[in-house]
Amino acid sequence: MPGTSKLNFFRLSELAQAGQLKGKRVFIRADLNVPQDEAGRITEDTRIRASIPAIKIALEAGAAVMVTSHLGRPTEGEFKPEDSLAPVADRIAELLERKVPLISDWADGAFSLEPGDLVLLENCRLNVGEKKNNDDLAKKLAKLCDVYVNDAFGTAHRAEATTHGMAKYAPIACAGPLMAAELDALGKALHHPKRPLVAIVAGSKVSTKLTILKSLAEKVDQLIVGGGIANTFMLAAGLPIGRSLAEPDLIGEAKVIMDMMAKRGASVPIPTDVVVANELSPLARANRVAAVDVQADDMILDVGPKTSAELANIIAHAGTIVWNGPIGVFEIDQFGGGTKMLAAAIAHSPAFSIAGGGDTLAAIAKYGIEKQVDYISTGGGAFLEFLEGKTLPAFAILTERAST
Ligand code: 3PG
Repeated sequence: MPGTSKLNFFRLSELAQAGQLKGKRVFIRADLNVPQDEAGRITEDTRIRASIPAIKIALEAGAAVMVTSHLGRPTEGEFKPEDSLAPVADRIAELLERKVPLISDWADGAFSLEPGDLVLLENCRLNVGEKKNNDDLAKKLAKLCDVYVNDAFGTAHRAEATTHGMAKYAPIACAGPLMAAELDALGKALHHPKRPLVAIVAGSKVSTKLTILKSLAEKVDQLIVGGGIANTFMLAAGLPIGRSLAEPDLIGEAKVIMDMMAKRGASVPIPTDVVVANELSPLARANRVAAVDVQADDMILDVGPKTSAELANIIAHAGTIVWNGPIGVFEIDQFGGGTKMLAAAIAHSPAFSIAGGGDTLAAIAKYGIEKQVDYISTGGGAFLEFLEGKTLPAFAILTERAST
């Protein structure tokens, strides 16, 4: 067994280099849960492309390779065509330029597999007991392989039979390259950051991100808030917000976070100017006003240019940047100035930057800075739970296996 590296878990690449995959049955749990249109066509394939390196490593090392994933949230034991991984099998086949047979009813191992073969095992959430991490199912599935690989960072916050139970019982359990890269990047950003560490947390509600805000308030040097979250912090700072989206009952929590930060010499920058309108519409007239001048019928839909410049300056001097959430309603151009400026600042910053979350990825794509962000996470819920400081069960079991 190769030695453990930076983080304490075994890595597929190390096993391959040590010749431990040759002739072995390798089971890869990937996250191929991709969006599809009504006809079942894949509309965005990042997760599939990100899962290819693990498959290539195992095949090139001479293994017999099985890959599975969940797709959506099907009812266990009830196959419906829309839950099938068939479109995913086709996409993998295109990317690898080879046939990728899709195996149904695979839990009992009634399929043949030789070194050099690659098969996709149908939606693992069709197996009865998957979601509840049933121990008997996990033991049975673990017998299918010599080496279990978890490369499904997007599902690392779920303890299910293929993400957790199998890792307990498989002869060897390791992380695939995507899982390892995500954990390395997140660990670098949050556990060993180059300072100042700046986090951007934006979204409509403080309530949905309260745990993240509190967890980050203990670690970061500047906590930039945006969207409805910023409005609640503006209320806490005694500023008027008119009809803007906010949660007045969470003003107390916002004050606690600001106090926590202030005690550590850290801060939550509060907007000094904002962009307001009377309605949230592409036709709305956007007005730039000082934060103290927001009127009763105004809705705050973005930060103003002065605030944007202040935030860009913070970003320019950061050592590490963690980004989750656009700071204005960037989908409408006249309310996208703040997010655009922030994206440009991140793109030009020498800091190590990491971003995650659906809206954030949409903003990154809109402003074309994919290549300038150091790491873009494939995790939605898993990325948020990592930021919350929670232990991801699929990762925890890999570290447990590496230490026993
Ligand atoms: C995701 O899309 O966030 C992951 O694939 C997890 O999916 P789930 O929320 O259905 O567990």
